[in-house]
Amino acid sequence: SMTAATGTLSADRPGPRMNRQVFGQFAEHLGTGIYPGIWVGPNSKIPNDAGYRRDVMTALKAIKVPMVRWPGGCFADEYHWRDGIGPRGKRPVKVNTNWGGVTEDNAFGTHEFMGFVERLGAEAYVSANLGSAPPAETSQWVEYLTAPAGTTVLAKERAANGHPAPWKVQYLGIGNELWGCGGNMRAEYAADLTNRYGQFAKSTNGKMLKIASGPSDSNYEWTETLMKLSGKNIDGLALHYYTRPRDTKWEDKGPALGFPEREWATTMAHTLQMEDFVTKHSAIMDKYDPDKKVMLAVDEWGTWYDPTPGSNPGFLQQQNSLRDAVVAGLNLNIFAHHADRVKMAAIAQMVNVLQAMLLTDGAKMVKTPTYHVFDLYQPWMDATTLPITVKSPYYHYDEVAVQSVSASAVRDASGQVHVALVNLDPKNAVPVSVKMTGVQATTATGRILTAATMDAHNTFDQPNALVPAAFSGAQVADGTLTVTLPAKSVLVLALR
Ligand code: AHR
Repeated sequence: SMTAATGTLSADRPGPRMNRQVFGQFAEHLGTGIYPGIWVGPNSKIPNDAGYRRDVMTALKAIKVPMVRWPGGCFADEYHWRDGIGPRGKRPVKVNTNWGGVTEDNAFGTHEFMGFVERLGAEAYVSANLGSAPPAETSQWVEYLTAPAGTTVLAKERAANGHPAPWKVQYLGIGNELWGCGGNMRAEYAADLTNRYGQFAKSTNGKMLKIASGPSDSNYEWTETLMKLSGKNIDGLALHYYTRPRDTKWEDKGPALGFPEREWATTMAHTLQMEDFVTKHSAIMDKYDPDKKVMLAVDEWGTWYDPTPGSNPGFLQQQNSLRDAVVAGLNLNIFAHHADRVKMAAIAQMVNVLQAMLLTDGAKMVKTPTYHVFDLYQPWMDATTLPITVKSPYYHYDEVAVQSVSASAVRDASGQVHVALVNLDPKNAVPVSVKMTGVQATTATGRILTAATMDAHNTFDQPNALVPAAFSGAQVADGTLTVTLPAKSVLVLALR
């Protein structure tokens, strides 16, 4: 059997650009994701700037978060934007019925969210309430956000609340999971409502891309119907897909730490299904939209495990380990290969929820292995994708058999080529050789994320247990890149 991986990288045949928005993140009013993951309020003892936690802002800025999706998720379809404007102390206190039945005091509303993305230098993805509010509510929210200063009643109200200038809204979500928590709709009904709500949502401050609530997993009928009935009225169709180690029963997903190798294997196999889902949904979209004007927006992806023992199960809190880092690398490579259609994505979620980038506890914060993968992939943002194919030995475990090595490559604006190599085999290093055309380089150096154990992770006491390390074990000679990829690793190389 083959023990080495071989491949080709054709830098002389550049592909589409990988939109930076593919590195977007999802921040829902869920658990401790917003309070106190992002927002502690200006009077908090936790160090903050105008209410935003300083540690979290600094960490997010360092990875140049390009886009944030908010306020949900399921939360979006029962969110009323007027609850979140005006003096904070006077905002209505409600119950978050989706997530743990906890109090929602609406301290983080429209101004706080737009201030958040402004401080990050990120684009805003605002998810509108289609499930439980009339279309005028969406229209008026968009008007409140985007109407020129001093024009309409809502523009004046915005000014009275402290922001005379309009904001730019890059993406508007027209409902969320309309087949489920967004209203249990049939696809035909969802398409009709998508057309109706979209029609009356008019940005007056630049183009606002309308993203329809799309399928999850392999629900191809949904994609077919939405594209047929709404394809001409939307700019994007959302795809949601979560990786669960055990995917037979929703209530039983498997633990985030201390899992057996079998669950490492199933996690990898399930993650790789993303390739199939993206390919097949894209093929349906091609029928109705051959010019690829409508993007596939994978605006919820990541791992979903059993909640951390002892935590509120409605908070979707989980630890994040080397397994998550490998999952992130695999997904980002898949998105790179589909850069023509996947023009935006959002990992679920940003802080303290599901496959989080950051975890907080009181005044403490820790960067997860997933955060470090986003850091390693920064050169992919807005870079030109390059065709790379790698044939590798299979990693076997019981009935699971998956290729061990996944790769993607880009050329950045300065002309430099970057290669990402992921080895999902938890036990075996894999020698890799990639024949390159169109690359004038003699060295390949970079950073690697790897560890001895499958569930290596960072804690508040040991925040740097798993961080990228400098890597100089790769060679370039005679137009071939060779490297021995350690077991369970994510390696990103810059060619010079
Ligand atoms: O990310 C958690 C939830 O997963 C979202 O609110 C919902 O859209 C999806 O089911």
